[in-house]
Amino acid sequence: MKALQLIFRYIKYFLIAKTKHSAQAPFLYEFITIVLNKKSDDQNCKNIEQLRRDLCKSDDTVKITDFGAGSHVNNNKIRKIKDVAKNSAKNSKFGKLLYRITQFYKPKNILELGTSLGISTLYLAKAIKESQVHTLEGCPETAKVAQQNFKKLNAKNTSITLGDFNNTLESKLEEIKTLDLAFIDGNHQEKTTINYFEKCLKYSNNDTIFIFDDVHWSEGMENAWNYIKTHQKTTLTIDLFFVGVVFLKSELSKENFIIKF
Ligand SMILES: C[S@@+](CC[C@H](N)C(=O)[O-])C[C@H]1O[C@@H](n2cnc3c(N)ncnc32)[C@H](O)[C@@H]1O
Repeated sequence: MKALQLIFRYIKYFLIAKTKHSAQAPFLYEFITIVLNKKSDDQNCKNIEQLRRDLCKSDDTVKITDFGAGSHVNNNKIRKIKDVAKNSAKNSKFGKLLYRITQFYKPKNILELGTSLGISTLYLAKAIKESQVHTLEGCPETAKVAQQNFKKLNAKNTSITLGDFNNTLESKLEEIKTLDLAFIDGNHQEKTTINYFEKCLKYSNNDTIFIFDDVHWSEGMENAWNYIKTHQKTTLTIDLFFVGVVFLKSELSKENFIIKF
């Protein structure tokens, strides 16, 4: 039933989403043409996708400590790494989008909620070496595999903090002081998503970018996305269906776009 609702929401998105031709504002036009519609296939991306292919073949298992709204696909406690890699990690298209956003806007302090096996973390980290990616994960066994993956790809600008976001997020924000990019990809529920957004906002600046995963995953996530879009601190929001991108820049006019990706 949930899958059917998601398909219905996607069709609705597909029918109303706009292309670059409807982007009048220079900032949005630049985002669409230089960030969204570009291709990334350099050696970093190739290495991350090779790692994904290896993980997708792995019959090794991990004991899942489930904190969030879980998965539509598999809620077993012991899962094969290949199943986690196939069902939890952002796919190549969105991983590369994270890579291009990071390369283009050059955020220094990046926070990720939801490491899993570290695929999206690697896209964020490999985009610019000068950034520091602070990634939070509650499941010790998946975090351990992620750590091994960072080592394999020599991603030195990453650090994993283990524990429930409820216990780790505030102290991590306190430690990093200012947040330049936040990728929220864990615990896909309405109240928690709003709560993470509000907490992160306190450490944001005019250039901070938020990327929310799965903003149409459920009715609750759509409510959270509406809350974020109408928040007084947000200006430009871009709905790409599987992720929502949020800018706070006060010089931009407050507008919500649904863009084809
Ligand atoms: C969708 S996966 C992240 C995928 C990853 N960003 C990627 O694309 O490669 C979400 C992760 O968030 C973690 N998580 C969910 N809720 C959490 C919570 N409240 N505290 C800590 N970790 C949580 C889960 O254990 C899971 O590994």
